[in-house]
Amino acid sequence: MNQRELVIVKPDGVRRGLIGEVIRRLEAKGLKIIKLRMIRATRACMERLYDIHKGKPFFEDLVTFMSSGPIVAMIVEGDEAISVVRNLIGPTDGRKAPPGTIRGDYALSIQENIVHAADSPERAEYEISVVFSPDCGEF
Ligand code: CMP
Repeated sequence: MNQRELVIVKPDGVRRGLIGEVIRRLEAKGLKIIKLRMIRATRACMERLYDIHKGKPFFEDLVTFMSSGPIVAMIVEGDEAISVVRNLIGPTDGRKAPPGTIRGDYALSIQENIVHAADSPERAEYEISVVFSPDCGEF
């Protein structure tokens, strides 16, 4: 089934020059980038993005990190895009993510793990509305 997925290159990925590498891997797989935006997100916007983690011990650090520098948000489309993207990215903890995945190849941290992707079609649509809203931030 055709799906839309939200992918974000996080501030660490942008700082390390990995925007192109993330996009290359998504496109090499056959997924289409149908919309793309680079912004310096506000704290308020990142609190909305991560609303499901509010109250968890890592929430404040996560919001600070995600608003610490520019991010690249994109809408990625393709057959079963949600599970395909999540398999390309690998598990959250970069130390445990297998080689061959984006996090497995580039991340050594649970927080600074290069990319974010939504985990369901409903979350993808919610998160797309959050990060592509004009008030999420500007570059
Ligand atoms: P992400 O897939 O964007 O979803 C939530 C983010 O919180 C996660 O990637 C990490 O960047 C960050 N995070 C920090 N600590 C933790 C933790 N202990 N468990 C899960 N996510 C964490």
